[in-house]
Amino acid sequence: MSAGITSPAAQPRHLLGLQAMSAERLRALLGATMDISRVHGRLSEPLRGHVVANLFFEDSTRTRLSFTVASKKLGADVIDLVSATSSVNKGETLIDTARNIEAMGVSALVVRARQSGAAALIARHVNIPVLNAGDGRHEHPTQGLLDIATLGEATGRADGFDLSGLHVVIVGDVYASRVARSNVAGLCALGARVSCVGPPGLAPHSLETLGCAVSHELDPLLPQADAVMMLRIQFERHEGGKGAEGQSEKRGVISSVREYRARYALTAQRAALMKPGAFVMHPGPINRGIELDAEVADSPQSLILRQVTMGVWARMAVLRDLLGD
Ligand code: CP
Repeated sequence: MSAGITSPAAQPRHLLGLQAMSAERLRALLGATMDISRVHGRLSEPLRGHVVANLFFEDSTRTRLSFTVASKKLGADVIDLVSATSSVNKGETLIDTARNIEAMGVSALVVRARQSGAAALIARHVNIPVLNAGDGRHEHPTQGLLDIATLGEATGRADGFDLSGLHVVIVGDVYASRVARSNVAGLCALGARVSCVGPPGLAPHSLETLGCAVSHELDPLLPQADAVMMLRIQFERHEGGKGAEGQSEKRGVISSVREYRARYALTAQRAALMKPGAFVMHPGPINRGIELDAEVADSPQSLILRQVTMGVWARMAVLRDLLGD
């Protein structure tokens, strides 16, 4: 099964990533998202009778609840596997877990996992649609879709999603970011220019193979950007896991929070370098006071809560696409 939405006859279709998705397919899903947005999600419950299973083997606030709201607005029932109390902790594999839940008669699996490729692996072993809700450092396709829908709406490009001429700057821990990978794929496919910025360890030049530019200097790019997408440092995806600030510094993820902030945080002072009308985005969760200052996160140029709202519409669009008649 390929990484994008696929439709071979008699095979379930999945949403595993944006990297293999055509611009035409992206535009269809983004257009459906905007249609749903315009009616504030009020549809005639096209998924009544379906059960959507959330299989979250890693923490989530936005994605899990957003999929739940989206499923319920479409008329589906939702069941949740909570990894902390599941039999994965007794040694059951992700594949066995997924196949057992499929055997209960659910219509789709929404999967979040620490392992890159976990959603695709599960998709190869079940006969129902699998939606990747974030797999390790690989992809987070519905986050990419909702981010692009939000940006398209804010910049007046939502009618057709031709993003040519737009410059999006993604700042921070790009290396560990599945959100960045899905965004780079989707934005570039629709014609936007993307620059990824961070210290060499978090924004290595190897990322250029994704189609973006890479820079270690943020300030010169700020006056050019139409949107600046800030990323959290994902300490848990770097060796050693999450710890106190001082421990994280010692592990070498960053040399020091103070030094990181001095060069890469979107402070109010730095946000003033952005061109008028440019937007601030963040997929969440925000670490206020590290990568993004509160007054910027809560400013009129921030799209952060609009991203969250758009997440419901985007997930409704995808679920309806995969499960609807
Ligand atoms: N943006 C995002 O994936 O947030 P959660 O980890 O809370 O789902």
